Amino acid sequence: MAKLREYSNQTVIDVEDGGNGIIKPEGRVVFVEGVLPGEVVDVRITRRKRDHAFGVVTERHFDSEDRIEPFCAHFAECGGCTWQYLPYPKQLEYKERFVADVLRRIGGISEPAPLPIIGCDTDRHYRNKLEWSFSPTRWLSPSEIDSGEAVDDRRALGFHVKGRFDRVIDIGTCYLQPDPSNAIRTAAREIALRHDYSFHDPREHSGLLRGLTVRTTRDGEVMVILAIGEQRPDVAESFLHELRDAVPRISSAFYLVNTTQNDDNAPHTVHHAFGTETISERCGPLSLTIHPKSFFQTNSSQAERLYSVVRDWAVADGSQTLLDLYCGIGSIGLFLADRVGRVIGVESVADAVAGARENAQRNGYTNTEFHAGDVRALLTALGRPDIVVIDPPRAGMHPDVVEALIRMRPRQIIYVSCKPATQARDLKRLLSAFYIVRIQPVDMFPQTFHIENVVDLRLAT
Ligand SMILES: C[S@@+](CC[C@H](N)C(=O)[O-])C[C@H]1O[C@@H](n2cnc3c(N)ncnc32)[C@H](O)[C@@H]1O
Repeated sequence: MAKLREYSNQTVIDVEDGGNGIIKPEGRVVFVEGVLPGEVVDVRITRRKRDHAFGVVTERHFDSEDRIEPFCAHFAECGGCTWQYLPYPKQLEYKERFVADVLRRIGGISEPAPLPIIGCDTDRHYRNKLEWSFSPTRWLSPSEIDSGEAVDDRRALGFHVKGRFDRVIDIGTCYLQPDPSNAIRTAAREIALRHDYSFHDPREHSGLLRGLTVRTTRDGEVMVILAIGEQRPDVAESFLHELRDAVPRISSAFYLVNTTQNDDNAPHTVHHAFGTETISERCGPLSLTIHPKSFFQTNSSQAERLYSVVRDWAVADGSQTLLDLYCGIGSIGLFLADRVGRVIGVESVADAVAGARENAQRNGYTNTEFHAGDVRALLTALGRPDIVVIDPPRAGMHPDVVEALIRMRPRQIIYVSCKPATQARDLKRLLSAFYIVRIQPVDMFPQTFHIENVVDLRLAT
C-alpha cells in the first residue's frame, strides 16, 4: 500500500461515525468522503496515517439505492450540508447506529441500547443563526475555470469554501435558515455592489465589508450584525438602513468594527443601529433574551426537545439541588428550575453568565445562581448536588472534572453531548461509580454528521 496512490473498483463496506465511507484495499482501512455502503468507487489516496489512510472518489461506478440528488446548487463546494445525498430518514437511521457503535467501541458500553433518535420535523431551514462572509475573491466553479472566460468582478457574499479562508462561495439560495435570511443576503450584496463598497480581503487585510450575521427567532424577529473592517460607522449605519428598506422584517440591527487581521468578531464592541436591542426566543416555558453576541443552541425547536428529555429524566420533587455545568446562558438549568429547589450554573464565558442571570430574572426564577469560571476550578467548591447536568463542548470533560464528579457522588448525572466519542470516553470512567439507565440520541443538525446524545446515569450503591 505504501506506494499505491489509486485504487479502482473498491466496494464501500460501511460508513463510520464521522460520516466517511470505509473501503479496505489490501486489508488496510481507507476513509472516503461522500460514499454509501455498497457503492463501487475508484479512489485516490490524499493522506496516509500509520494504520489507515484518507481518499477521494475519482469515479463512482455503482450507486447505492439510497443515494438521492442533493437539493442545494452549492452542495459540491459548500462544506455546510455534507449529507444531502442521503434521505433524511436514512440519516437518522445511521446516526442512531453511530451512537451505539461509538459507545460500544470507545466506552465499552453495549447496554442499554439507545432509544430511537428524536429527529427534526423539518430537515431544512432549521438554523436560527448564520454568518456570511464578504470576499473580493469569489470561488470559481470548475466549469467557470474551464470556460476560460475572464471574470472581472469577483466580489461575493456567502460561505467560505471548506478549508479555504480566502475563497467564498457566492450563495444564491441557502436552505439552512428560514426567511428572510436569503432575502437579507441578496439585498446586502445588491446594496454593496450598488455603492461599490470594497469587500474585505484576508490576504491584503483591506476592504470595508467583512461579515453579516443573521439571527432569527421562532416568532419572526430578525437581528442583523454587520462587521466592517474600516472605521466607517457612517457607512455601516446607512448600509443597515438601506437593508431594512429592502427587508422591512429586520427588527434589530447592529454593526461592529474589526480592523484586525483576525476574523473573530467576539472581542469587538457591537453598536446599535436601529430597532430592538435584543430579540426573544421561545424555549418551552422560557422566553430567552438574545443579545447580538449571546450563545444559544442554533436549532431552537430541537433545543426545546433536547431540554425536554433532560427535564423528563430528572428525578426531582422540587427539593433538589441541580448543578448545570457548562451552562451557556443557563437555558437547561432554567428549563428545569421549577422542578428543583435550587439551580447552580457554571460557565466560563462571563457574558453568557450575565445572560443566564438576565434570563432567570426575566422568567421569574429566584432559585438560581450562575458562576463565571472554569468547571474544573469551581466544581469542588459547589457542595454535593442531587442532580448534575453536563453539557460540555466537543472535547468533553477534563479528566479532573470526571474524577471530581465521581468523588461528589450525585444521585443522578444527565450527560448531554454534541460529540458521542468524547462522551463515550468520559462515560467509561464514570461507570466506576454510576450506571446507565437510558440513552437518547437527538438530531439537532440534519444534512450533517453531527449528533447530540443524552445519557441518564445513576449512582451505583
Ligand atoms: C455545548 S455548550 C452548552 C451550552 C448550554 N448548556 C446550552 O444548552 O446552550 C458548552 C458551553 O461550555 C462552555 N465551556 C467550555 N469550556 C468550559 C469550561 N472549562 N468551564 C466552564 N464552561 C466551559 C462554553 O462556553 C459553552 O457555553
